[in-house]
Amino acid sequence: MQYAYGKKIEPNNGDLAVEARGLVKVFGDNRAVDGVDLNVKAGTIYGVLGPNGAGKTTAIRMLATLLRPDAGSARIFGHDVSKEAQIVRQLIGVTGQYASVDESLSATENLIIFSRLLGLGRTEARRKSEDLLEEFGLTEAAKRPLKNFSGGMRRRLDLAASLIAQPPLIFLDEPTTGLDPRTRAQMWDTIRRLVKTGSTVLLTTQYLDEADQLADRIAVIDRGRVVAEGTVDELKASVGTSSLHLKVKNTLAIEKARKTVEQVLRVQANVSAEAGKITAPMENADRVTDLLIALRDAGIQLSEISVQKPTLDEVFLTITGHGVKEDASDESNKVEVASL
Ligand SMILES: Nc1ncnc2c1ncn2[C@@H]1O[C@H](COP(=O)(O)OP(=O)(O)OP(=O)(O)O)[C@@H](O)[C@H]1O
Ligand SMILES: [Mg+2]
Repeated sequence: MQYAYGKKIEPNNGDLAVEARGLVKVFGDNRAVDGVDLNVKAGTIYGVLGPNGAGKTTAIRMLATLLRPDAGSARIFGHDVSKEAQIVRQLIGVTGQYASVDESLSATENLIIFSRLLGLGRTEARRKSEDLLEEFGLTEAAKRPLKNFSGGMRRRLDLAASLIAQPPLIFLDEPTTGLDPRTRAQMWDTIRRLVKTGSTVLLTTQYLDEADQLADRIAVIDRGRVVAEGTVDELKASVGTSSLHLKVKNTLAIEKARKTVEQVLRVQANVSAEAGKITAPMENADRVTDLLIALRDAGIQLSEISVQKPTLDEVFLTITGHGVKEDASDESNKVEVASL
């Protein structure tokens, strides 16, 4: 984490918090970021969605002046990240995939030190630290040294530290990866609160549902390039709102099942014949009732049926024509309708 807090510097471009044009970063022969354009409106939450190795962290590091772009340019509230790095640093907070705190000190001590470094007085530093520890559910653990903290607790403390001086623009690199569901929801609330109180947030995530919950707009990045950009609704509309997964008991019945699915849902279904599996996009999850009746009338027996939100893998498959390499699909999206 790195941030700066000093004399008040007003953003000089009211409308766009981030404006990146053709950003490139090359490591050896790997074009980690390969010509990225981004526009983030001030006062919004912007999600950068992509699988492992897509270039999310590298892009953020360039926007946050931690890494020099090999080509292209970026402005933060109108200030150039290369030519006006000092000003940019005073407008941003970065928190993310790296430890930022002193292991031997307690959570309270860490936050107080950060607060003091940022210019807060002693009383103010203590008050602010206590408020943040409470907000992140760390009050109980606050006196223990950090080396005894779990990964999730560290992540919460890292975000808390970056919020001491709530900067106009906050970069959050995978803020909820590895958090339990309750803490994840708490983090989402905090992020929403940050925006309500005037900040702009640019966050990266591998989870479609997280982007869905939080982001006003999303850029999907794949292999260093933006492959889709728009509001969550636009992105979802391009993928379909639900997807049907079903498995037939007798694989010989699969063709008949496919025809039934296509007739009832009026879409094209994908068949994996050897596994006896059919998947199809669904406009409306309610149609599953009609489908079940039609399948029964056709004498087709199922061993499994579920309706799921599109996974990251499906988004990628639709947008890029290939899936993500690692299994980054979010199983928690799964809505079981029936297990037969
Ligand atoms: N300092 C570096 N030196 C060499 N290669 C790097 C460096 N940082 C990143 N890379 C490579 O650049 C590519 C993009 O990495 P990056 O960390 O930006 O991906 P990411 O989208 O943040 O992935 P994750 O979801 O795993 O955090 C990867 O192939 C990575 O191996
Ligand atoms: Mg990353």
